Amino acid sequence: MGILKVARLGHPVLRRAADPVPPEALGTADTQRLIDDMIETMAEYDGVGLAAPQVHVSQRLVIYGVAANPRYPDAPPIPLTVLVNPRITPVGDEQEQDWEGCLSVPDLRGKVPRWAGLRVEALGRDGRLLRYTAEGFHARILQHELDHLDGKVYLDRMGSMESLAFLSEFQRYGLKRAD
Ligand code: NI
Repeated sequence: MGILKVARLGHPVLRRAADPVPPEALGTADTQRLIDDMIETMAEYDGVGLAAPQVHVSQRLVIYGVAANPRYPDAPPIPLTVLVNPRITPVGDEQEQDWEGCLSVPDLRGKVPRWAGLRVEALGRDGRLLRYTAEGFHARILQHELDHLDGKVYLDRMGSMESLAFLSEFQRYGLKRAD
């Protein structure tokens, strides 16, 4: 177990399309250790999601979950989830704007439009098929993390850079509440 170094914007691994995880890799100690280390790393940095490319591993693997989190005080709790080779499909055509941040783009926040509802299909860390729907902040986290698997970050999805703010100013001026 260990805390992994998080790649920051500018590292090429964040701009590459990640490779699928061969399902048999889930039976190996290496892949299971990577997942455990990603969980530890996300907890260390108070993240709500982490994609393998963010820890310099170009594979289609993400984790996410929301416990009581000082970085996202208004976020609803979401159980810790591991997704291997995930796919998402929008449900309906509704989009929502809300704030995002990213451990690979430290100290910034910006408003990003995302699909309000998704269908999700992936393998779990035990190789079993997972199928479910997600809405709101849950759907937002998924779209953010899956973008990392395609070499995208949330800045690429912002309709306008006007909302982009440093975290300290975001907090000082109560931008979350002013929306
Ligand atoms: Ni991110």
